Amino acid sequence: MTSKLNKILDTIVSGVVVVTTSVHGNPFGMTASWVTKISSNPHMIAVSISPKCFTHNKLKESKSMGINVMSWDGLKIAQHFGTKTGKHIDKFEGMQFSHSALNNPVLNKGTLAFMDCNIVEYLQAGDHTLYLAEVVEGYFGENEDPLVYYRKKYFELRENLVCMSIDEIEA
Ligand SMILES: Cc1cc2nc3c(=O)[nH]c(=O)nc-3n(C[C@H](O)[C@H](O)[C@H](O)COP(=O)(O)O)c2cc1C
Repeated sequence: MTSKLNKILDTIVSGVVVVTTSVHGNPFGMTASWVTKISSNPHMIAVSISPKCFTHNKLKESKSMGINVMSWDGLKIAQHFGTKTGKHIDKFEGMQFSHSALNNPVLNKGTLAFMDCNIVEYLQAGDHTLYLAEVVEGYFGENEDPLVYYRKKYFELRENLVCMSIDEIEA
């Protein structure tokens, strides 16, 4: 039953982000796909993170996070941050990045956008923690094709695929 429900929840299509933060000048980060917009005034997002992730407590400590929204070109970076733990290695070694105004690592390559966020609340949600954060600044990255995650696989989304904007659909 659990594995069936896992598969059913996995039918929700999502983007992929690398959540970053800094504690005592050291960068930390992990990949997340359980992320969504939750408010536009103020601009807010929510990210669901397992306490098993090393980044989990770093976010509680720093109270801020960077959201690097990944592009198709950033697939290997997303995989790197999503399969290794910062408990044992420095995941930023060899990575090109700068720091945001809130001191969160901004990835220089493989992103659609970056959001600089203050964590305003966190709630226990089953076996995860839901971080609610206010987006105080944002920048576009160098890429435009999003990295899409669906049923544990990565997909590329291109403009020439069949798609329809919500303004084109008549009631
Ligand atoms: C595509 C992808 C999406 C992921 N989404 C999440 C997520 O939304 N929440 C979460 O807790 N872990 C998620 N993970 C797993 C963490 O990124 C992974 O456990 C990571 O190694 C944790 O790193 P850390 O121990 O340095 O924090 C995801 C991994 C991948 C590859």
